[in-house]
Amino acid sequence: MTTLVLAFHPHLHDGSRVNARLVAEAQGLDGVTVRDEYALYPDFDIDVKAEQEALLAADRVVWQFPFYWYSTPALLKQWEDVVLEHGWAYGAGGDRLHGKELMVAVSVGGPIEKYRHDGEFGVTGPELLKPLETTARHIGMTWLRPFAIHGALNLSDAELESAAAEYAARLTA
Ligand SMILES: Cc1cc2nc3c(=O)[nH]c(=O)nc-3n(C[C@H](O)[C@H](O)[C@H](O)COP(=O)(O)O)c2cc1C
Repeated sequence: MTTLVLAFHPHLHDGSRVNARLVAEAQGLDGVTVRDEYALYPDFDIDVKAEQEALLAADRVVWQFPFYWYSTPALLKQWEDVVLEHGWAYGAGGDRLHGKELMVAVSVGGPIEKYRHDGEFGVTGPELLKPLETTARHIGMTWLRPFAIHGALNLSDAELESAAAEYAARLTA
């Protein structure tokens, strides 16, 4: 099983605590490749062929990102828009990702209590991830249970280490 982690954090090396730790964890694992997408494409000029080749070489793909405005950072949206081409990822002949697995690994600033119908945000995490889940289905990928870290702004060092260990287990399962 080869796993490709696509990390989307605009400040992975100058501000990120949680995603930086998760990337460091993933980089040390056999069978796991990490691509730092904001470092590769600071101007959002994505090399579509390079991204598609990386996808083809993987059995499992992970979209790792911090939750921004109840969604993904902008570069992941741009990546979807340009990499998942018609005739390649969907539509006639668009079967290149069929059967591969997709997992979202997301750090969420707010605590889980706020992500409830009766909570402050009035909506759940799985509901907010529906566009990504629907995208996975549309391109024939198997949607795995998301790896989510809630309360990411207030994690203790011990909680972060525990989350990193759990992430390693999910990436190598
Ligand atoms: C632009 C921006 C938007 C954010 N939007 C949300 C949000 O909608 N919901 C939330 O729970 N946290 C939100 N946060 C908090 C981030 O999710 C949190 O800072 C991040 O997951 C921490 O991971 P890091 O240490 O890798 O940066 C936002 C942070 C930023 C900078």
